[in-house]
Amino acid sequence: MLLVTTSDITKRLETEQQLLQASKMATLGEMATGVAHELNQPLAVMESASSFLMRKLNKKEDIEEEHLLIMAQKISSNVDRATRIINHLREFGRKEDAGLEKIQVNDLLRRANELLSQQLKVRGIEVVWQLAEGLPLIMTDPGRLEQVFVNLLLNARDAIEDKLSTKGIKKGSEKIILTTSSDGDKITIEVSDTGTGIPKDQLEKIFEPFFTTKSVGKGTGLGLSISYGIIKDCGGNIHVRSKKGEGARFIIEFPISNDS
Ligand SMILES: Nc1ncnc2c1ncn2[C@@H]1O[C@H](COP(=O)(O)OP(=O)(O)OP(=O)(O)O)[C@@H](O)[C@H]1O
Ligand SMILES: [Mg+2]
Repeated sequence: MLLVTTSDITKRLETEQQLLQASKMATLGEMATGVAHELNQPLAVMESASSFLMRKLNKKEDIEEEHLLIMAQKISSNVDRATRIINHLREFGRKEDAGLEKIQVNDLLRRANELLSQQLKVRGIEVVWQLAEGLPLIMTDPGRLEQVFVNLLLNARDAIEDKLSTKGIKKGSEKIILTTSSDGDKITIEVSDTGTGIPKDQLEKIFEPFFTTKSVGKGTGLGLSISYGIIKDCGGNIHVRSKKGEGARFIIEFPISNDS
């Protein structure tokens, strides 16, 4: 009996792990266009530096030492930039979880935004930062919590796009607002958007696995349920406030670890 139960639990954990990985991979796929754009920039800089050098060499012209130095520095700093982007993606897609660490939530929000900033920008969505300074650290798994933020940002993006595609809706200035604060016992992270908002009768369902209002192929309905699980695992809480037509606000709270 006990054996059966244990293997059931193991199976469930394995399934959860697979779902988590599948959702991460889907997110990575979504980010691919933005990342391709991010990588193109350093590559373009390196291309222009190397073609400058080749031109000079082909014409057997002397290259001033100062110019050589500038080109070498440009190439090196742009290799760094491309490497950073690639490492970030690699870490995000990693299978194993690194375990709990003391982390600064503001840094994690910035990291999550880094992966998506390009695609928000092209859609004209402004990201407004309202980060509290000197925020206490919390104990959490940074990789998984970053995934939560990416999920919330993607949902906000979709809700704003959805609103903009609805006929008769006035286009305003579309925003995602990221706020952090602390009251001594806990820290609070808020992700709000100016998107469609969530109808009252759906507010309770959105954290359920496979609940989605998106078309087949666009949404799996796993983002929020996985995010909910991650936050609970880290000892936190997440809830939502929204009215149809007034955007949505996701509120996450974490207890402050004693020795931080
Ligand atoms: N910021 C938001 N504004 C409006 N509705 C939202 C917002 N975030 C979530 N929702 C609603 O909650 C549903 C569930 O979200 P969830 O992230 O779990 O799944 P999904 O985004 O539909 O699919 P997936 O995240 O798996 O790609 C969404 O389909 C949408 O109806
Ligand atoms: Mg989602």
